[in-house]
Amino acid sequence: METDPETAPKTALRLIRHADAERLAALQYADREILDRWEPARQREYYTTAGQRQLIDRLLAQYAAGSCRPWVIESGGELVGRLTLREITGRPFYKGTVGYWVAAAYTGRGHATRALRLCLRAAAHELRLHRIEASTQVANVASQRVLRACGFTLMGVAHEHIHTAGAWHDELLWERLLDLPAAQEGR
Ligand SMILES: CC(C)(COP(=O)(O)OP(=O)(O)OC[C@H]1O[C@@H](n2cnc3c(N)ncnc32)[C@H](O)[C@@H]1OP(=O)(O)O)[C@@H](O)C(=O)NCCC(=O)NCCS
Repeated sequence: METDPETAPKTALRLIRHADAERLAALQYADREILDRWEPARQREYYTTAGQRQLIDRLLAQYAAGSCRPWVIESGGELVGRLTLREITGRPFYKGTVGYWVAAAYTGRGHATRALRLCLRAAAHELRLHRIEASTQVANVASQRVLRACGFTLMGVAHEHIHTAGAWHDELLWERLLDLPAAQEGR
């Protein structure tokens, strides 16, 4: 489990597990209108325990293959969201792409910002990555504030990058370099 000694038990990251499926289904079903705005449309099955178990299966398979770190975000031992570092790539890029969601009942308390900081720490010191990328829709100001607070800077605009809520939307592309003194070679 990744924990920040300064903020624990406020926010922690731990690896997702099958037992999370029921709570994830309930929280995401409650948030489905918010999620539909920012993410591709989901089938009804996605919001069920069985659907979440299938997703967790896929994430854990990618984790076993080394291409993904699928975490849940916890606060005081309670699951409040999800953060995934995916498309983890080694030489010569040493990078990953991050995505996250905090359940609406728990937003506005700094969980996403602290969780992303914990992810960056693991990416640098454990996974030895050199850069993390993210994308946000132009209108998703809250997510952009999270990224800026964690040191991400804007790379540019990807036009009609994502199809959500029945239309194409531009997205902002973000990058965060991880300053590691160690040379890349041999990692
Ligand atoms: C975006 C999201 C992850 C933020 O989670 P959170 O735990 O509330 O984030 P934090 O509390 O760490 O920070 C949120 C920041 O956005 C700000 N914010 C929240 N709502 C806002 C809004 N409507 N407009 C502008 N800023 C807003 C907060 O004030 C805070 O900024 P501050 O720390 O400078 O005051 C959460 O709302 C969410 O999961 N949304 C739906 C899914 C999503 O958008 N995921 C990201 C896809 S790129």
